[in-house]
Amino acid sequence: MNFKPFPEIKSERLLLRRMKESDCEEILFLRSDKNINIYIERPESRKIRSISDAEKMIKNLDTSIEANESIAWGISLKNEPQLIGTIGIRNFSKNPKTAEVGYDLNPKFQRKGIMNEALKMIIHFSFKELKLDQIEAFTHSDNKASRKLLEKNGFQLQEKRKDLDYPSNIVFELENSSKYPFD
Ligand SMILES: CC(C)(COP(=O)(O)OP(=O)(O)OC[C@H]1O[C@@H](n2cnc3c(N)ncnc32)[C@H](O)[C@@H]1OP(=O)(O)O)[C@@H](O)C(=O)NCCC(=O)NCCS
Repeated sequence: MNFKPFPEIKSERLLLRRMKESDCEEILFLRSDKNINIYIERPESRKIRSISDAEKMIKNLDTSIEANESIAWGISLKNEPQLIGTIGIRNFSKNPKTAEVGYDLNPKFQRKGIMNEALKMIIHFSFKELKLDQIEAFTHSDNKASRKLLEKNGFQLQEKRKDLDYPSNIVFELENSSKYPFD
């Protein structure tokens, strides 16, 4: 895995870019707003409750990116630098080569196909650039928006897999197979 130089990605409407310290207010909002986080469970160590937590999170992300351990992108509209959401892949493992995708989006921008556009780019990057065999996603079983997004992109619900840390979560997988419609 090599994330240098940082892989900025563009689509029709979006720019997926490196997050920076000046994004910390938007990060605090995304990670602490009740509506956005209603279905998201995180360990205490990954909770963001203040600007200082958000700054630390961005620094930790930078360290992980530099160490090629995980990567996260800030989502912006192409013509506006403001951060409207994030998407990232982490928990890489070998044999098979897998990683976990996660995402969040400011409610003002939801239901416009934005995360669908971002997720497609990250799937493409994961399979074509990182050559992953599989992408996983853990989502709360009541999270209709996330389930729909994953199903729409070919992720299959794994009825037999459990999230031992968070039993309300269900697990989806997407295989890197020629069936995935890249273009
Ligand atoms: C999950 C999330 C990222 C989806 O982002 P989004 O940009 O609004 O999703 P899209 O507009 O690309 O929609 C994808 C599909 O889900 C559907 N969808 C979106 N929100 C929905 C909702 N609240 N209820 C039911 N379906 C929904 C859309 O209709 C679309 O399907 P369609 O094309 O067949 O109509 C967004 O709801 C979010 O940030 N939620 C809070 C954070 C979160 O739960 N993250 C996931 C953690 S696992």
